[in-house]
Amino acid sequence: TTLKKIIITIDGYSSCGKSTLAKQLARKLDYVYIDSGAMYRAVTLYFLQNRIDWTTTSAVVAALKDIHLEFVPNSLTGMSDMYLNEENVEHMIREMLVAEKVSEVAAVKEVRDFAVAQQVKMGARKGIVMDGRDIGTVVFPHAELKIFMTADITIRVERRFKELYAKNKQISIEEVKQNLELRDYIDANREISPLRKAEDAIILDNSHLNLDDQLELVMQWVEDATMAH
Ligand code: DC
Repeated sequence: TTLKKIIITIDGYSSCGKSTLAKQLARKLDYVYIDSGAMYRAVTLYFLQNRIDWTTTSAVVAALKDIHLEFVPNSLTGMSDMYLNEENVEHMIREMLVAEKVSEVAAVKEVRDFAVAQQVKMGARKGIVMDGRDIGTVVFPHAELKIFMTADITIRVERRFKELYAKNKQISIEEVKQNLELRDYIDANREISPLRKAEDAIILDNSHLNLDDQLELVMQWVEDATMAH
């Protein structure tokens, strides 16, 4: 029997493992995975490259007209890469330079409207897992399964540090911690669609869960949500 396709949203703080879980689910369920944060990162990259002042509304509005974002499937990873104006920026958007500014850019109303409009369209055919900060609250308020992820800050810093250190030995644990804390603060306290748990979201604290156990737990939730709808 083929199960009905649903929409799964995963929100939470930075570096809780949202994308890891989302990718696992997408593979297992043969769903499309959409990394909404990649869109905010790509816009941030464009603003930095083109010296756009994102505190000025007219400059933002004009710049957004020149931005074309697209998720292009990558046959090697089985996932999608973020393309900014036909260029693959998947690696560039993960760099510290972007991470340091993305929360500021993601707090700009026009930027959010731009990203959310495209995200909503991607859910039209269901069978989608999207992770971010406002996916269960704003983008898909009627999603069948909403997950809100958290983990202890020390564990998140450790995970993120390992990831970044593999690419750049210059990075320090203190730097990573400060960036995470600052991003969490801005994301949770901005005026427009701040990070918060949707009322009907299930909390997943994975501080002490391994990936297999986590997937098993969530697959049960998926089954329940699929049956219930
Ligand atoms: O998930 P991430 O770390 O790649 O997200 C990067 C930034 O983008 C994050 O600091 C907050 C912002 N973001 C957002 O505001 N809304 C989303 N749906 C996804 C990300």
